[in-house]
Amino acid sequence: MIEAVKGARDILPEEIGRWQFVEAGARATFELYGFHEIRTPIFESTELFLRGIGEGSDIVAKEMYTFADRKGRSLTLRPENTAPVARAYIEHGMRRRSEVERLYYIGPMFRYERPQKGRMRQFHQTGVEVFGSDHPAVDAETLEMLLAFLARLGLKELDLVLNSVGCPRCRSDYRAVLLRHLGPHEPVLCDDCHRRLQANPLRCFDCKVPADRETMAAAPAILDHLCAACREHFGRVRSYLDDFGISYRVDGRLMRGLDYYRRTAFEVLAPGLGAQNALLGGGRYDGLVEDLGGPPVPGFGFAVGLERLVMSLPGSAVLPDGAPDVVMVASGEAAIGRALSLARGLRRSGRRVVLDPLPGKSLKSQMRRANDLKARYALILGEREVAQGLLTLKRLADGIQVTIGEGDLETTLAGAARA
Ligand code: HAM
Repeated sequence: MIEAVKGARDILPEEIGRWQFVEAGARATFELYGFHEIRTPIFESTELFLRGIGEGSDIVAKEMYTFADRKGRSLTLRPENTAPVARAYIEHGMRRRSEVERLYYIGPMFRYERPQKGRMRQFHQTGVEVFGSDHPAVDAETLEMLLAFLARLGLKELDLVLNSVGCPRCRSDYRAVLLRHLGPHEPVLCDDCHRRLQANPLRCFDCKVPADRETMAAAPAILDHLCAACREHFGRVRSYLDDFGISYRVDGRLMRGLDYYRRTAFEVLAPGLGAQNALLGGGRYDGLVEDLGGPPVPGFGFAVGLERLVMSLPGSAVLPDGAPDVVMVASGEAAIGRALSLARGLRRSGRRVVLDPLPGKSLKSQMRRANDLKARYALILGEREVAQGLLTLKRLADGIQVTIGEGDLETTLAGAARA
């Protein structure tokens, strides 16, 4: 038997309601705030991610699905969508269309990570990107929208963790401070951290090795080494959040695993998720568009992991069930012919109808199937009904049934819906 590849999985019809609920909530919320959907390709030139996410990041160093196409061009399945959306923003000259551009996306991403609960190799994100303003009100309002989205899904008790990772100016000062802290620990740091020390010591915050994590937990925080402009920006973001009444926790060591961040960086943690407890992450990336060859346009955004979001939905969420309004139960060929035309009429008036032509199956087993599908009604065309030109409508919740003429079907269904 051929099975799905390790770290990739099917989302089955019985769970799709949860996904559709989350996706519909994302679209409705983001569109309320003026965002428009963008769909970028699943694969991009590898160079986009090398320049966008940064070669010192774990994603680029060890998690990308990179391959050569038939002409030898290096392509990569997108591990995230901020760099691709920034590429599209530049390529289509969106700056000329509007000063501030708000885009959102929903789709699969790919990272070669060790699969575990909440961590997949093909996973899904919904995210937003705002281009064109570095005003702290963008940070605060986008965070407010994010929390409105999560609240709409019924998610509570979330932990919003906030930091400012500064700009290149504060970072070069901080780099020296960090290297001084790490110096005495260098002999015991892991091999990856030795690599990080050379390329970008700030990436040592990504290390998962317990001893190194302890070293990093005791490291000086970048928040205490911000330049005046970054400090002021962060203060204003916080004050807008306070005005909104949004609670958050400041963690001066939250660095995020991608190189493009500047100033605001944040994550939302969900306590029920276990080890992979980051529901989402995001921040400001004011240099990214320029680094990718575009104009100097600031940006801000976030991406939510949909697997983790779907797992965190409360039991009380009202999900679309996809159940049919009517299942046709027809015995014999003549009945199937009539059922086809009745079903067509019902669908034209907007009802969900299922017709499985199973002439050899007893009415009883067809009724069982209607129950399994959680249909509201069974429309029964047995031998008696066919002979008399009638039909029987049975409400499955309480078993009440009426035998009526075809012409009365719509009014009976409409009346029953009102009752
Ligand atoms: P990220 O923190 O790498 O940020 O990913 C965002 C979210 O995607 C994570 O918090 C997590 O929920 C989910 N995620 C990441 N990797 C996996 C995985 N292997 N399996 C399941 N879920 C996963 C970004 O991707 C940035 N592009 C976010 C952003 C947008 N920043 C600015 N704009």
